[in-house]
Amino acid sequence: MRIVVVGSGGREHALVRRFVREGHTVVGVPGNPGIAQDAGVAPCASNEIPVLTAACHRERPDLVVVGPEAPLAGGLADELRARGIATFGPSAAATRLESSKAFAKAVMRAAHIPTAAFEVVGDEAEIDRVIAMLGGSVAVKADGLWAGKGVVVCETAGEARAAARRLLERGRVVIEERLSGPELSVIALTDGERLALLPPARDHKRLGDGDRGPNTGGMGAVCPVAIDEATLAGIRETVLRPAVGWLAQAEAPFVGALYAGLMLTETGPEVLEFNARFGDPETQAILASIDPSVGLGALCLEASTGRLAEAVLLASRAACCVVVASAGYPEAPRKGDPIDGLDEARAAGAEVLHAGTRIEDGRLVSAGGRVLNVVATGESLEEARARANAAAARIRLPGKQVRTDIGAS
Ligand code: AMP
Ligand code: GLY
Repeated sequence: MRIVVVGSGGREHALVRRFVREGHTVVGVPGNPGIAQDAGVAPCASNEIPVLTAACHRERPDLVVVGPEAPLAGGLADELRARGIATFGPSAAATRLESSKAFAKAVMRAAHIPTAAFEVVGDEAEIDRVIAMLGGSVAVKADGLWAGKGVVVCETAGEARAAARRLLERGRVVIEERLSGPELSVIALTDGERLALLPPARDHKRLGDGDRGPNTGGMGAVCPVAIDEATLAGIRETVLRPAVGWLAQAEAPFVGALYAGLMLTETGPEVLEFNARFGDPETQAILASIDPSVGLGALCLEASTGRLAEAVLLASRAACCVVVASAGYPEAPRKGDPIDGLDEARAAGAEVLHAGTRIEDGRLVSAGGRVLNVVATGESLEEARARANAAAARIRLPGKQVRTDIGAS
């Protein structure tokens, strides 16, 4: 197949590399310097939907796989499907599951999907009552796309009040009960009805070791996470299937990768968020762990054309992805720093994916918060972790920020 992958991050580089290995011809729109080494790229003048649509169309693809949420929320998948192009990625209407926290909570309530008690607040005068009703310990979430940075998990009611007031300036907020437990990311490919489950992964969202520091887009991930089969099947039946079913009956069928961000609480899994796409950096670990004999490109085409078969894809090895982030990430990532040591990292037994890089005067430099993804596999998680950490240590980037405990907890 000729596959176009839309996006320019590490997730897209992982998808491109996988599709190339499966024998497909791949073009990154717009791609990045790493993608350009593995496949074709078609640079775009902007990220606007008409520009992206035209760039995809020009490639005459058999399939378009859309990576990031912004073009999905803007209706890129709708535009492509209207032009008869098989597209793996939900419509703008179905993407609301990610682009509006309030919509996602309403779907969860309507479809009886386990999630934290909540209220949507649009007026400062309601803040105190809602926080008190939820017991004082809450998470406050801005109702839009904030790249993982619109959520404040609060220790005290005072902190929650301040966070709610601040986030309310940008629009309504969801205030929800604070949950605790380990987190899990479960992603399914879906054609709007049937589900093909990918092996479960775990992301590490805090900037620093020991889960300290601010929330980020994700500092690393491992796959698979050891959870029993019954729990995973339960997540499929009580979370993913009802969400897909609800959207189908609401005439906004979800075609693409549906991501459930879960907390495994003492009383069972609860949904923290839905994403309307592959997780980043989970996908980098998941794709490395799925057996090379699995045709991911073919599965994405089947999902895009309503022909997916129910499946549970298994991990055939453990994988660990360590993110190399720039100085100043996540508040103010510094750009333009020189990047070296990629060959040394590869020699240490890892793959290197480009996430936020560009070429400047013939030299590879940083161009975003998350700069590179170092991915390693092993027979055991310990082996994968050790390789990924050793390889990430070989990357040279002034002021780089790297966690050393990905997958340790
Ligand atoms: P979200 O974007 O909604 O997944 O939130 C980002 C991160 O905030 C999650 O990965 C959790 O670590 C944390 N979080 C979100 N909601 C809650 C909650 N209700 N209780 C505790 N932590 C939460
Ligand atoms: N890793 C979390 C996300 O993709 O939103």
